[in-house]
Amino acid sequence: MRAALVGVTKRYGEREVLRGVDWQIHAGERWALVGPNGSGKTTLLRLLAGREEHDGGELRRARALRVATVPQEDLAGLHISARAYLLKAFDDVLKKEAALERLHKDMAEGDATQATLNAAAEIQDWLLHHGGYTYEVDLERCFLGLGFAMEDCDRPCNSFSGGEQMRIKLGRALLDPADLLLLDEPGNHLDDTQRGWLGEFLKDSPRAFVVVTHDPEILEGAVDHVAFLLDGKLYTFRGDFASFQVQFAEMQKTRERAYEQQQAFIARTEEFIRRYKAGQRTKQARGREKVLSRLERVEAPLRGPDGFKLRLTFEAMTGEDVITVRDLRLAMGPNELSVPKLDLKRGQKVALIGANGSGKTTLLRALVGEVSPVAGEIRWGTNVVMAHYDQHQRRLPHGDSLFNTVGNLLKTPNREQIMGHLGAFGFGGTRAEQGVASLSGGEKARLHLLAVLLAHANVLLLDEPTNHLDVNGVAMLRESLQAFKGTLILVSHDEEFLEAIVDRTWAVAGGTVRTAAHYDPDLLNQAPEPVRIEGRKASPIKKQEPAPAPPTSRKGLSKNERFRAEKRKVDADALVARLSAEKEKLEKRFSDPDAVFQEDWRALHERFEKLKKELGRAEEEWLEATAALEEDDAIRGV
Ligand SMILES: Nc1ncnc2c1ncn2[C@@H]1O[C@H](COP(=O)(O)OP(=O)(O)OP(=O)(O)O)[C@@H](O)[C@H]1O
Ligand SMILES: [Mg+2]
Repeated sequence: MRAALVGVTKRYGEREVLRGVDWQIHAGERWALVGPNGSGKTTLLRLLAGREEHDGGELRRARALRVATVPQEDLAGLHISARAYLLKAFDDVLKKEAALERLHKDMAEGDATQATLNAAAEIQDWLLHHGGYTYEVDLERCFLGLGFAMEDCDRPCNSFSGGEQMRIKLGRALLDPADLLLLDEPGNHLDDTQRGWLGEFLKDSPRAFVVVTHDPEILEGAVDHVAFLLDGKLYTFRGDFASFQVQFAEMQKTRERAYEQQQAFIARTEEFIRRYKAGQRTKQARGREKVLSRLERVEAPLRGPDGFKLRLTFEAMTGEDVITVRDLRLAMGPNELSVPKLDLKRGQKVALIGANGSGKTTLLRALVGEVSPVAGEIRWGTNVVMAHYDQHQRRLPHGDSLFNTVGNLLKTPNREQIMGHLGAFGFGGTRAEQGVASLSGGEKARLHLLAVLLAHANVLLLDEPTNHLDVNGVAMLRESLQAFKGTLILVSHDEEFLEAIVDRTWAVAGGTVRTAAHYDPDLLNQAPEPVRIEGRKASPIKKQEPAPAPPTSRKGLSKNERFRAEKRKVDADALVARLSAEKEKLEKRFSDPDAVFQEDWRALHERFEKLKKELGRAEEEWLEATAALEEDDAIRGV
């Protein structure tokens, strides 16, 4: 076993980010760690790496465990070559190699003792099993895979750009012959090709690793375990990512249904208690209170705040012409992007589409003036107030706490308004007082998006704005962009999202831009008539409200009926107790991640569903019997 966590907790100030995490990582296991932004993935990796202390529970690491992470050091001050830096990963190998060389020298000078020969053979064997004969090739493969040219390998570290230095450091972690490799969003600094290479690399890696990523290349090919972090709890699954998704969807559904059923039951019972507590049926009301207090609450399924409306306002309209591009030529490495003509008029909403590396980003950056054209002209119209969201920039607005930051952005001290916006962007409740500097990566991006949206711009350029939002957040953004009266350029991989918002397309491909006056994702492909999947998702079927309890008759019960009702009540009570106990047991098995796999998950799930139904029925039965008896008491004036 490499590492084990038992009931590990971690808090930041008031907030408990990890609320009892159990996890075992064994040799050779390949884990993806996923979960919403801010759920604590980075925190968990830092605990594993020993870079941070946990507050409660137990964290065990195998003795002499060698953990590799992307180094935090700054390469800007490092004069040694990239090769020398990467070679540090093989310290042990190099030491053995030197020892072997010394022995060889001794042998060449006539030392032929058995001890020397044995020592040399032993080292050779060690080298064979620790990559001692392949490390140079491994290093070069990795260097190329991460997008460098071989001749760069001997350049000093500090001559590389910031992004390149990040890639070199990633290479250092990948090459390390560690027992456990920890990677936190390694794809962030890689392009498509490099990400593909990393996916392949991890697929072939014999080492245990944990990778935090959203990258399908890695998720779909390289992992055989998935850990999902949600609300401070870790759910672990054995199997590849696709099977995780299926199992997780089932689990969510179960949880949602259980929650809804229980909420309905609670509401009905509370209503009963409210109605009768003060009257002559206090006893019965108290009985129901007992049922409620005994009830083990099903946790609410993860749901963001919904129904919030984000209004995108600005002061004045732009002129009729917003962007005019003529004969534009932009440099893209050895290639060029050439754009003879582009026009964007007031109020138009355009989808900017194109494969990664096609020049989409270059065009956007040229439009906002971050890149100068080789030739041609970009003209912005009059009265333009532009705001640009780029998920990688994360330029954070100022303000010490989230509350103050959003207050500044909204230019209002109105608490309700500020809290509404914070909640909609996933920073509700006590989070409002958190310092901006301590936000997680995804949270920073989300705050940056909020800042851009609240900038009162009449022209918005949004590059993948949905990446860090949950389902409700995406719905909210879609609505506000639909209602937006200004001009919009929108980049998104989500076709449904684009289709709902935009009314035209700019497609970047083959070194130029094609346009259409409607949304047309096929503009990118020259292939004849690609098949489109028809039909939209059916709207969810409305759940029927539970039928109101039938009015009870005003006639009293006969002696026999009364006896039966009392028996029903006692039986139901016993049944509720028995089923609750069984359900509790089953729930324990659910929360024991490994058990879920040792057992037949589906059977467990089915049993659980059935149990819940039986329990619901038993509870209803109890309530009904009790109500009948109470009604009878009331009629007979007991
Ligand atoms: N020093 C700190 N003080 C207060 N809160 C913190 C601190 N560090 C992290 N947090 C909070 O703890 C939570 C978990 O942070 P963490 O960086 O582990 O999340 P994450 O899952 O890696 O998120 P992301 O997907 O956005 O990278 C976040 O809500 C973050 O704001
Ligand atoms: Mg993180």
